[in-house]
Order: sequence, then structure tokens, then C-alpha cells
Amino acid sequence: MANNEDQFKKVISHAKEYGYIFGSSEIYDGLSAVYDYAQNGVELKKNIREYWWKSMVYMHQNIVGLDAAILMHPKTWKASGHVDAFSDPLIDNKDSKKRYRADVLIEDHAEKLENKAQKEITKAKKRFGDSFNETEFVTTNARVIGYREKKAEMLSTMARLLEAEDLLGVKALIEELGIVCPVSGSKNWTDVKQFNLMFGTKLGASAETATDLYLRPETAQGIFVNFLNVQKTGRMRIPFGIAQTGKAFRNEIVARQFIFRMREFEQMEMQFFVRPGQEMKWYDYWKETRLKWHHSLGLGPENYRFHDHEKLAHYANAATDIEFKFPFGFKELEGIHSRTDFDLKAHEAHSGKKLQFFDPELKENYTPYVVETSIGLDRMFLAVFSNSLQEETLEDGSSRTVLRLPAILAPVKIAVFPLIKRDGLPELAKQIIEDLKWDYNVFYDEKDAVGKRYRRQDANGTPFCVTVDHQTLEDKTVTIRHRDTMEQERIAISDISDLVSKSLSMKDWLQ
Ligand code: GAP
Repeated sequence: MANNEDQFKKVISHAKEYGYIFGSSEIYDGLSAVYDYAQNGVELKKNIREYWWKSMVYMHQNIVGLDAAILMHPKTWKASGHVDAFSDPLIDNKDSKKRYRADVLIEDHAEKLENKAQKEITKAKKRFGDSFNETEFVTTNARVIGYREKKAEMLSTMARLLEAEDLLGVKALIEELGIVCPVSGSKNWTDVKQFNLMFGTKLGASAETATDLYLRPETAQGIFVNFLNVQKTGRMRIPFGIAQTGKAFRNEIVARQFIFRMREFEQMEMQFFVRPGQEMKWYDYWKETRLKWHHSLGLGPENYRFHDHEKLAHYANAATDIEFKFPFGFKELEGIHSRTDFDLKAHEAHSGKKLQFFDPELKENYTPYVVETSIGLDRMFLAVFSNSLQEETLEDGSSRTVLRLPAILAPVKIAVFPLIKRDGLPELAKQIIEDLKWDYNVFYDEKDAVGKRYRRQDANGTPFCVTVDHQTLEDKTVTIRHRDTMEQERIAISDISDLVSKSLSMKDWLQ
């Protein structure tokens, strides 16, 4: 595809054209940064959620699930620190009247230095060919070292200023770096201000008696407040985890990049409760385990990297992001945080209830430490979808659009076609569907030439197409076509299910 921006545009229009994602309330011109999942999108999303759920809950005997309510007692958010500290530093450009996150402006500026370093590396690669040693080059080349040192210094200055809540200092840094507004090109900035991201709502009928509530900005707190309920009723022993998927809401200021940053989105989170002092061991374990999960889907290991946080959230003593190479560059896909005993202790203090574990081995009570894995389901959707959408030139010079979704995630697994619309072929095709529909989401299509139908399913991400022809009437065999290789083979109708099921084995994918 031409360039990243074009590719991203193509992703967005393909998502709409093939029934994956629509803008919310489109007939009223939409609602900014809110999206609806259409007939195929809802299936892909469900399959990603299930792939995560099975790998976390069914694959770990010491992890159980939970589905807590979105609305929670308002003290929850005071205890968690979200009322006081869940805000973004904002800055406005006086000429364009555009609003930005100050930290994002600085990070984007720093990324330009990394791009310069990458350019040097690519140039050297070309110059030295096979004898190029990248590790040696990046540790000895003065330019690359210089760019990277400057970038690190910039980010650590920003982290220090934000940590100290020195908003004047953040503005001064933006001015010192000469950062300009991408729209107006001017350096005419306002002061930096903090803005809380939680959506407020009210519980109760009359204005005088109504209680102020928040829509949850993360699902994690539903897990913390249920820690003791689950531990006692499930007779769980440390270490153990609680997993949950569900909606979260944030009044994002700079909502952009399609479903990457939304105001209503879904998280898949797991809190792992451990003995104090053992959190780093588990932090490393979950970093490795989660990266393996991502790699299992085959989107290419080169598209992932860890990014350790300079500025830690108010609850964390270590944190990293798993970043993915989206069409607009490497960005956070998942967070792994060592949250200490911050949340349980805070809920103890605000509720007056003990949230401790009696460890039978140590014969003592303690407040467990927590390692959290937190991934945005919509972001994972975008990672899979954008990576899978490919434009291919075929041997005969023609091109095809193919959505190479991992088969286990594809919305429709099998499309069944009668070669023509008569001679009993449609009836036989529908009979085959009657049998397959118990195990798979199956699609029937009889419109247009078979070649055209294949292309439609390629673009839709369907891994298998089955064609019923006159030979089928005689010997009960069909043609099965594989989306990725476009290879076709003749198999018995009775073998279709087995062939497809092999490509969908959770065990094979995860291992
Ligand atoms: N409980 C920890 C937590 O919520 P976070 O880094 O703020 O941490 C976790 O969010 C993940 O949720 C992110 O890595 C991202 O995938 C997803 N996420 C966060 N904000 C989002 C938004 N506005 N739109 C879509 N996904 C979002």
C-alpha cells in the first residue's frame, strides 16, 4: 500500500464497507470517538474476547472470572485516586484553538528523533549489505547515539515535571523544544491545565437527593472491591487472579485515530494477587506470558515491542506497555503494571473493611500485592484488523484485497456456494450448511460468478470457501478453497468439518 496514511484510510473504509465498524448514530452525523460494531465486527470482537478469556481463565487453574457492574459506589473512585489524579495535562494553541495533550506533544516530538535514528540505521543497512551488524552500529554510531540520548533526556525531563505536577515547567519545555501546533504552525500556547477524564452521571430521581456517580474509567476497581468475596467463595489461595472484560468510559480530549482512542471502549483486565516481595517475579512472568499470547496470533513478532514507563501512574512501582505497530506507528496496545498494595489498602481505608489474606504457609495476614494485565479490546481489534488487511498482486498481474485474519478470530469460518443457481445445487449447499451451522458461523452466497464470490470472502476474511457443483451430486465431494494460499482441493462433504476444525484448535494456536 502506498503509505501509512493511505493504508489507515483504507482500513477505516474497509471496516465500514464490509460490516465491521460504523460510526455511532451516523444518521445524526455521528458522535465523536464513539463507534458501533456491525455484523462482522461484533463476531471478530467476540472471538478476540474469547481467545483472551480462554487463555487467561481456562489455561490457569488459579484464575477465575468476574462481571462487575459499570456503576459503582462513588467512594470507589476517591479511594482509587481517580477523582484526584485521573487527569491529562492539556494545552491549547491560541491561533488554531486546537487542544492537545501536553505530554503527547512532547512524546511526538521525541519520536521524530527516533525516526531520524532509524533513517541512519536504514541507510547504513543499505551501505553495508549482509555484513551489517545492527547492534554494533547503534552502540557506536555517534549520530544514532546522539538522537537517542536527546530523546531519552527529553522524556525524562517531561516525566520529572509531570511527577512534580510542575505544569509551568511543562509549558516551558514545550517552548524550549520549539514545538509548533500541527494545524496553525504557531508556538502561541496557553498554560497547561489538568482535566479529569471521568464521565459523571446521577443516580436517583430528584435533583436534591440524587447521588453523583461516575461511569467506570477502568474495569479493575470492580475486581479490587470484590477481592475478598471471590477469595473466600472460591477458596482461592495466593497467588491467584481475577479476570474481567467490560466497558470503560473516558472523556478523552484528544480522541482520534478511529477506534484507537475512544470515549466508550472495552477492556480485558486481570488482577493477579501475590505475596508482597514477589511482585517482580510475577511482573516478569506476565510480561512474557502476555507477549507470547500476542505472538500466538501470527501477526509478526517484529510488530511488537515493550516500552517501560518513565512516569509511573499513582498506583504502580513498575509498568510497561506492549506496543504494536499500528498504521500510524508503534503505540500502546496493552499495559502490564505492578500496582503494589495501593488499591486494596486504599479501599480498606475508605470502606473500613479489612481486605487481607491469611497465608497458611507463612501463618500471617497481609495485604496482597497486585500485578495487572490490561488490554483494550477495541485496540486489539484494530491491531488484528489493520495488520490483516493486505493488497496483493497475483501471478497473472491482477490484484486482490485480502483480510488475512487469524482463522480462529475470523467472523465467518466457511462460505458455501452452489456453482450455479439450478440443478439442485442450491438445495445441496443449504443442506451442507444445516450440518455445519452447529459448530461454525457459516455464510451462503449464490450471487455472481464463483470467482467474484471468492474475492468477496477474501476481503471479508473468511478462511474457507466450499463450492458445490455437479460432481457433488454424483460423489458427495466439494471443492474447498483456502483464503491465504487460494489453493483448492476436492474433499468429501463429511470431511469439511474436520478440516476446518483443525485450523481452529485453540491448543495449536496458543502453543
Ligand atoms: N487498569 C489499568 C488501566 O486502565 P490504561 O493503560 O489506562 O490502564 C489499559 O488502559 C488499556 O486500555 C490500554 O492499554 C488500551 O489498550 C486501553 N485503552 C485505554 N484508554 C482507551 C481509549 N480511550 N480507547 C480505547 N482503548 C483504551
